[in-house]
Amino acid sequence: MDIFEKCHNYTQAKEAMAGGFYPYFIPLDENEGTEVEFEGKKLIMCGSNNYLGLTTHPKVKQAALDAINRYGTSCTGSRFLNGTLAMHEQLEHELAEFVGKEEALIFSTGMQVNLGTISSLVTRDDVVILDKDDHASIVDGARLGYGKIERFRHNDAEHLERVLQSIPDNQGKLVVVDGVFSMGGDLADLKSITPMVKKYGARLMVDDAHGMGVTGRGRGTAHQMGLTDQVDLIMSTFSKSFASLGGFIAGDEEVVHYIKHTARSLIFSASIPAANAAAALASLDIMRTEPERVDRVNAIAERVREDMCAMGFNVADSVTPIIPVIIGDDPRTFAMWKALFANGVFVNPVISPAVPQGSQLLRTSYMATHTDAQVDQVMETFRAVGKEVGII
Ligand SMILES: Cc1ncc(COP(=O)(O)O)c(C=O)c1O
Repeated sequence: MDIFEKCHNYTQAKEAMAGGFYPYFIPLDENEGTEVEFEGKKLIMCGSNNYLGLTTHPKVKQAALDAINRYGTSCTGSRFLNGTLAMHEQLEHELAEFVGKEEALIFSTGMQVNLGTISSLVTRDDVVILDKDDHASIVDGARLGYGKIERFRHNDAEHLERVLQSIPDNQGKLVVVDGVFSMGGDLADLKSITPMVKKYGARLMVDDAHGMGVTGRGRGTAHQMGLTDQVDLIMSTFSKSFASLGGFIAGDEEVVHYIKHTARSLIFSASIPAANAAAALASLDIMRTEPERVDRVNAIAERVREDMCAMGFNVADSVTPIIPVIIGDDPRTFAMWKALFANGVFVNPVISPAVPQGSQLLRTSYMATHTDAQVDQVMETFRAVGKEVGII
């Protein structure tokens, strides 16, 4: 049996390419933030996680350039050995303070935070309990650990309670949820989840990749709900509002110290370059000093949700700048994506297995730097294309 047989049999993506409906790996020539260019054609970007629009902010760019000039382009080693800079530790201190935890620890990506943190904590005889809509990196972190994996229905605290009840007292329990769910743009129901976690002696980790910079006036979902003390571990990434690359976990000193010495995705992978750390530090500074950016992106999102609903689109339970437009089947999802792209609007089509069959959607997301005129144009394009494809 040839191990490559599955590759020879994989035709789905090539069929989509041949049909002109392939929406992935689109090579952009320019990316100014809210506007991108593909083959000489400009599009308004409504598919990025650059929520605060900081990837092109002069202070963030300058900080990255200065860091390269001072430290070079790479740390060429793991945090554990030669790859820790004073700047990494400064960023960790500032992040811990920002999210209200004792310590923070930086990994090279958010994916690696979840892989390393969950697998180092959930060992044999432990159980990790996941929301069914949790991000793939959380699922993979759980799979890497040697413990058992349980799931509960999305945001269903009663179901979570039944799952927790079924686990023997002598087993360690870690509940992991997204703070802002990456496809639905809805929030974890931390008010209902935290009492359950406490009642059954479990611990709670919140992945706030999409919350940090956006919810809680930038300080995240636990902060917004006044529940920072009830959440044991807060995770986020630098690849969204922080306009960089990397990620972090924050929690009690002893727990972070343990993760620092046991998480294999931290120990056996190179640390983020100084330019990435400097960009994240500059972005953090802007989050603290310019909260009006956070207000702006949330105001745009509110307007978009209102307009979309008024036009007859279904935006599910979104309360953040991630606004899914539910289409419900593959052909119309791709037809709508293609027509939007042809008319200058970049969005992301999402189909099964990323979402269940029947919930296929266009994931749209917004930035503090989108102008009102750009949002007007996006809404008008959605109206025209939605009619053309028969969604509204
Ligand atoms: C909820 C969530 N967690 C973790 C990650 C991983 O972050 P990174 O892009 O830094 O690997 C993502 C990014 O897609 C995400 O959406």
